[in-house]
Amino acid sequence: MSTAADDTRTATGEAGTAAGGAGTAAGDAQLLRVRDLQTYFSDRQGMIARLTRRKTGEVRAVDGVSFDVVRGETLGLVGESGSGKSTLARTVMGLVPATGGSALLDGRELIGLRPREWRPLRRRMQMIFQDPVSSLSPRFRVSFLLKEPYVINNVPAEKQSSVDELLTMVGLSSEQADKYPHELSGGQARRVSIARALALHPEVLFADEPTAGLDVSAAASILNLMRDLRDRLGLTYVLITHDLNVVGYFADRIAVMYVGQLVEIGLGDRILAHPRHPYTHALLSCAPVPDPHLNEGHLENVLGGEIPSPHDPPSGCRFHPRCAYADQRCTDEAPPLEDLGDGELVACHHWRRIDLAPPSAQPAAASAAPSPAVGPTV
Ligand SMILES: Nc1ncnc2c1ncn2[C@@H]1O[C@H](COP(=O)(O)OP(=O)(O)OP(=O)(O)O)[C@@H](O)[C@H]1O
Ligand code: SF4
Ligand SMILES: [Mg+2]
Repeated sequence: MSTAADDTRTATGEAGTAAGGAGTAAGDAQLLRVRDLQTYFSDRQGMIARLTRRKTGEVRAVDGVSFDVVRGETLGLVGESGSGKSTLARTVMGLVPATGGSALLDGRELIGLRPREWRPLRRRMQMIFQDPVSSLSPRFRVSFLLKEPYVINNVPAEKQSSVDELLTMVGLSSEQADKYPHELSGGQARRVSIARALALHPEVLFADEPTAGLDVSAAASILNLMRDLRDRLGLTYVLITHDLNVVGYFADRIAVMYVGQLVEIGLGDRILAHPRHPYTHALLSCAPVPDPHLNEGHLENVLGGEIPSPHDPPSGCRFHPRCAYADQRCTDEAPPLEDLGDGELVACHHWRRIDLAPPSAQPAAASAAPSPAVGPTV
């Protein structure tokens, strides 16, 4: 259920733009500019509804999201499972149709483009998918999978990197070229996905859970690889992750997503040390649990209950049923994403008067790759 007050989020988001960009400091060169992006899925429930193709409602997976990405930075996108992170990335990448809003790459509108209009832009923006093995076709060898982007995009031979060059770039030996995806380890498959994404020399890389499912050392080596590639190739990353250690290690800025909307954006160091939004604070306050299986229920205990469905989000502030600071205003009125200046934005009526202690468990903003098994995983 959305309220009229929901609409204020957009208006204020645009006001934020005028004040220096949705989450970037004034004067920064925006490579990607997203405004009021919406992605709604129709929700056909039940046999009769499916047979009659009758719509029973909408799943507002992304519901009025605005942010900017500056050239060369890493923006970390965090939030619980189901908050809409992957859908947001897939919408900007043109893989899911947007319901409304705008996404500009260097001033060029991406929303509503036809597939052939996407072709030249695909070279500039690539995605590492959440599940690398299933994103690599099982019927083809690695050598073919690495060459495929060139075939699809009609890249002349002289502008192509060789399979060996691509494998070397991501730290794999040429022996891997003849393997099928199911013959690779999780870490190797992730490296092949990265090599495939880099084959076209993109400027922006959306990395969706790049370390999910990997053991500690494989995850650390993927992060080191990504960081090295960023520094060497000048890549811009949008890094989607459950793991706050990963953003702490990697991201310049962090955007926090909850039930299809952004609730806080800011510099990584500031957000990790002094979050302003109670939801961000709760994410960061989860005590470290070394066993990832134990973490699943742990966050629900800290926050109280599960994330609401985007099919029928709570009125007012969507976080109010789980927020210790909620009052009547929070139930009635959606808080706008308020621009605090210097690229800081927060959507909470009461952030000024809420005294949030530093989170009890903080991911380290370390200079070496973190251990993904240590620290909160949302
Ligand atoms: N094709 C679809 N049809 C209907 N609902 C969808 C579709 N894709 C995603 N959703 C819903 O949209 C919401 C957001 O999903 P999404 O996968 O973007 O979340 P996420 O933040 O990436 O979660 P996770 O961390 O588990 O990957 C979820 O409630 C999901 O069920
Ligand atoms: S607006 Fe109210 S419910 Fe929402 S985060 Fe702030 S205090 Fe909590
Ligand atoms: Mg996802």
